[in-house]
Amino acid sequence: MIPARSILVLQGLLVLISFSDAFDPISATIGLGIAAGVGVKWKDQIADYTLCKFYECCRKPYLKSDVEGLKLNLTQHLFGQHIVQDVLVNAIGAHFDTIELSRKPLVMSFHGTSGTGKNYVSDFVAAALFEKGIESNFVYKFTATNTDKDLADKVKETVKKCEYSLFIFDEIEKMPMGVFDSIVSLLDHHSYLKGYDFSKAIFIFLSNSAGAEIAKKLKSLMDAGRYRDETELEDFQYIAQLGAYNVQGGLHRSKLIDSHVIDHFVPFLPLEPRHVEMCIKKEFMLRSCPNEASDEDVRKIIKDAMTYDDTKKFSNNGCKRISKKVESYCYQQKMKSQH
Ligand SMILES: *[C@@H]1O[C@H](CO)[C@@H](O)[C@H](O)[C@H]1NC(C)=O
Repeated sequence: MIPARSILVLQGLLVLISFSDAFDPISATIGLGIAAGVGVKWKDQIADYTLCKFYECCRKPYLKSDVEGLKLNLTQHLFGQHIVQDVLVNAIGAHFDTIELSRKPLVMSFHGTSGTGKNYVSDFVAAALFEKGIESNFVYKFTATNTDKDLADKVKETVKKCEYSLFIFDEIEKMPMGVFDSIVSLLDHHSYLKGYDFSKAIFIFLSNSAGAEIAKKLKSLMDAGRYRDETELEDFQYIAQLGAYNVQGGLHRSKLIDSHVIDHFVPFLPLEPRHVEMCIKKEFMLRSCPNEASDEDVRKIIKDAMTYDDTKKFSNNGCKRISKKVESYCYQQKMKSQH
């Protein structure tokens, strides 16, 4: 389609174009000139045939918005979290539905005790939005142990590479107080910083805070005769906000909450033994153990791996250590069957 000689020239230009993504004024000007000259469509096509064939680019097929796939993954792999599933699918669906008109990044905070699936779910979100999932260069995971000095700079740098970036902040209750204040202004409606557009990005904050309160609330609702699956976001919303605010660490007295930039508080319900059982059975299948999980196996593993929380009704650690337990259980079985 494109004559060989122009391909050479175009490859030279491409280097300039890719430099122009770094926004240095001279090449940006040249880049603009080229874009105007050959048409933006061409730039896209050239990139498809060259650079983006080998490197992850901020475009299809590296970017996707597979909300149906997300829904499916959550239905199949996440146990006991009907509220999470609803809130998340609607929030992400809506964000992508009108993404070109978006005026504010999507900001969510996940709350719940450990092992309820917060990390697991954020990995599914990454998989639904990026071909490379959590490995994508446009997914930035920030943990309490890997605290880059200037969070705001890191966020800006990532958004400059790709406006559709996903940011995940894990265990924010362990992060120093005030750590997020520097990025609050980036998350707001009227945030405008020359050369940056944050409005298409997604920010997810994960924390164990409010987990115990959510458990207490769920217990009291269930004691009053409500089925778990009939509880609603509204039942937990207030707790999640309050808990996040009052707890020490990253969100403590944070501007992030004061300034109402968080769009969705997502409560992860504590798991009951029957949910942990489901995790065990799923792990058995994933690991292709010599035998299927018998009731006896499941009971043994539960006894070994699960402890109860203060309500005596829910698991303390959910499905957290289940995978390793099942792994070692299967290994034992395999060794036995070989002798
Ligand atoms: C579902 O999850 C798996 C595991 O994270 C991932 O490999 C797959 O791409 C996901 N599917 C979709 C449609 O998001």
